[in-house]
Amino acid sequence: MEILKNKTTLLNYIERQKEMGKKIGFAPTMGALHEGHLSLYKAAKDENDLVISSIFVNPTQFDNSNDLEKYPRTLEFDLKKLEDSKDVDAVYIPQLKDMYPNGAESKHYDFDGLENEMEGKYRKGHFDGVGTIVEELFRQVRPDQAYFGEKDFQQLAIIKKLVQKLKLPIKVHGVPIFRNENGLALSSRNERLTSHQKKEAELLNKTLIQVNDWFRVITVQEINERVKEIFMKANGMELEYFIIADEKTLKETDFFYKDKNYRAFLVVNLGDVRLIDNKHLD
Ligand code: PAF
Repeated sequence: MEILKNKTTLLNYIERQKEMGKKIGFAPTMGALHEGHLSLYKAAKDENDLVISSIFVNPTQFDNSNDLEKYPRTLEFDLKKLEDSKDVDAVYIPQLKDMYPNGAESKHYDFDGLENEMEGKYRKGHFDGVGTIVEELFRQVRPDQAYFGEKDFQQLAIIKKLVQKLKLPIKVHGVPIFRNENGLALSSRNERLTSHQKKEAELLNKTLIQVNDWFRVITVQEINERVKEIFMKANGMELEYFIIADEKTLKETDFFYKDKNYRAFLVVNLGDVRLIDNKHLD
C-alpha cells in the first residue's frame, strides 16, 4: 500500500494511475478506522481498479472545539488496519496546508435546504465544513466513484447534492450501516464508550427496529411519543432528537404518505458521547 503524505505526492500518483486508465474508487475518512470503514473499501474494491482512502481530521466540520480535541487519532493502528485489509492500494494523509492553503475556513454551500435539517440545526456550520473538505479531496483525488456510510445519511445526501451541483464526474455510493453482533452501529466516537455503555447504546438500534414495526400501523405522533418515553426511562441517556423524515428531502414528516420513502433518525447523548443512528422504514 502506498502512503501519500502530501499533496504533491498524491497528485503525481493520481496522474500515473489516470495515464494507465485506472478506475479509481475513493473512501475518505477521519481515521480511527473500524469495520464500518472496511466495508466501504470492500464495496470500492469490487467496482474499481484501484482503491484510495484518506485520513484527515477536518477541523472545519467540528462545531465544538472539545469534540475536535477528543476525536480519536490512531494513525499507526489505522495504517495497520488498512494494510491488513488488503483492499486499499493507497492512503492519502494530507497536511493541513494541503487542504487549507489559506487557513482552515469553510466555503458556504447551498444544498437546496438539506443542510438545514437535523444535524444542520444542531451543529452549525458542520455541513459547510464537510462540503469544503470533500470538494477539495474530490478535486485532488479525482475518483470515478466515492463511498460513504449510510450511518451519516444526511452527509451522504449532501455529498450527492454537492457532486450534482458542481457537476463533478463522480458516482457517489451509500454503503449500509455496519453493526456489531448486538446491532450497535460502529462509529469512531463509539470507541470512547465503556463496555457497559456499549451495551446501553444497543437501545438505539432496538428502538429503530420497534419504530419500523410501528411504521404505518400507528401515527407519526404516537411513534414520537413512544420513542420519547423509551429514552425517558433509559438511565443516563439523553434523547437529542428523534424524527421520521422523507428520505429525499430529509424534512420531518407528520403523516405517512403512500408514495414516499421514510427513514427514522435518532441522536442520543450517552455520557459525553453523541450517538447517531438511522433506519429506512419498510
Ligand atoms: O464521514 C467522515 O468521516 C467525514 O465527515 C468525511 C466525509 C471524511 C469528511 O471529513
